[in-house]
Amino acid sequence: MSNKVKIGLIGTGGIARGAHIPGFLLIPDECEVVWLADPSEDALQQARELVPGARTTSDYHEILRDSEVDAVAITTPNLYHLQPTLDAFAAGKHVLCEKPLAMNAAEGRQMVNAGHAAGKILMVAFQNRFCGEAQFLKRYIDLGKMGEIYYARAHALRRRGVPHWGVFIDKEKQGGGPLIDIGVHVLDLTLWLMGNPKPVSASGATYNRLGRNPDLFNGFGEYDHTKFTVEDFAAGFIRFDNGATVSLESSFMANIERSPFEAHLLGTEAGAEIALWENARLNIYREDDQQMFDLTPRNIPHVPSPHTVEMQTFVRAVAEGKPSPIPGEHGLMLNAIFDALYRSAETGREEPVNLHEG
Ligand SMILES: NC(=O)c1ccc[n+]([C@@H]2O[C@H](COP(=O)([O-])OP(=O)(O)OC[C@H]3O[C@@H](n4cnc5c(N)ncnc54)[C@H](O)[C@@H]3O)[C@@H](O)[C@H]2O)c1
Repeated sequence: MSNKVKIGLIGTGGIARGAHIPGFLLIPDECEVVWLADPSEDALQQARELVPGARTTSDYHEILRDSEVDAVAITTPNLYHLQPTLDAFAAGKHVLCEKPLAMNAAEGRQMVNAGHAAGKILMVAFQNRFCGEAQFLKRYIDLGKMGEIYYARAHALRRRGVPHWGVFIDKEKQGGGPLIDIGVHVLDLTLWLMGNPKPVSASGATYNRLGRNPDLFNGFGEYDHTKFTVEDFAAGFIRFDNGATVSLESSFMANIERSPFEAHLLGTEAGAEIALWENARLNIYREDDQQMFDLTPRNIPHVPSPHTVEMQTFVRAVAEGKPSPIPGEHGLMLNAIFDALYRSAETGREEPVNLHEG
């Protein structure tokens, strides 16, 4: 019997076919995709073309009943992260779950607890941590070169970028709009760089002013404007128990010049600006002998696909019995922050971040 990690995919839509399957296929000596599950025959068929040897099913429970399967990747819309994860842990499988971990912190807590009870890995798919710029900056910060980081701005903004596929505009199935969908990425990156301080409270505002307007252009393609039930723009301000604060902005549509995915961090010894995706860059700002220096690292290793590194990291953690490379707790912390931000947008007040209770 081969000791490759045997993987089942629960959900074979866009991210599964674009990131997970290609990532797993790049390490054929270490893992094998043995099952594909999706209620959509079309999605299954497209995935089958990528992994012709895998068995397919419309019911993910069939994967979980297969004792050969070591791990599953949960690549379903956010509403369907919870139950497959709980069922996978009950069946003794490791889980790589797409972001956001859950619809809200109450669900996230169940997932984290189930993972611990089963003694299995729960890894959240925050691939941006594996970008070259992010890896370098994390090391730089952990070496103490930026001093104490006390403030950050985190932006995941799109000028005209409403996802037209899947259910990204459906609040019931996603839990929210750009805040929980792409804000989650930039906030994870920012908080990870800051050493994951404990959030205590948050104030937020959400708007749905452009997303329902059928006359506006959308760079990603046509969608049904009448079904747009999420926010199109969100802003937040988060406080942490070490005194640090973070401001966050996220949009699917906004009247702005650019569509940045970037974080600006202010430390006592230096500041940094990190941008990923299309316009990746990293600048560090510091002072020496009363001179202000703008530093641009020139030989950051290029990571062609951070998604692929994510899959490899997960497979190796499973194979080597290591702890989760990106623990469920980090995903839960973000869900708890989003709960507070969405609540604050309704109440008009700063709200506590409830990490531990509902
Ligand atoms: N890490 C990233 O950068 C990134 C990028 C895109 C999407 N995502 C995340 O991935 C998830 C899926 O997004 P997507 O773009 O692939 O959406 P998608 O709509 O293209 O695919 C989702 C698939 O899940 C299937 N599905 C629904 N319920 C299921 C169930 N019970 N069992 C099995 N399959 C089921 C659907 O039929 C669909 O084929 C979301 O949570 C999203 O936030 C992450």
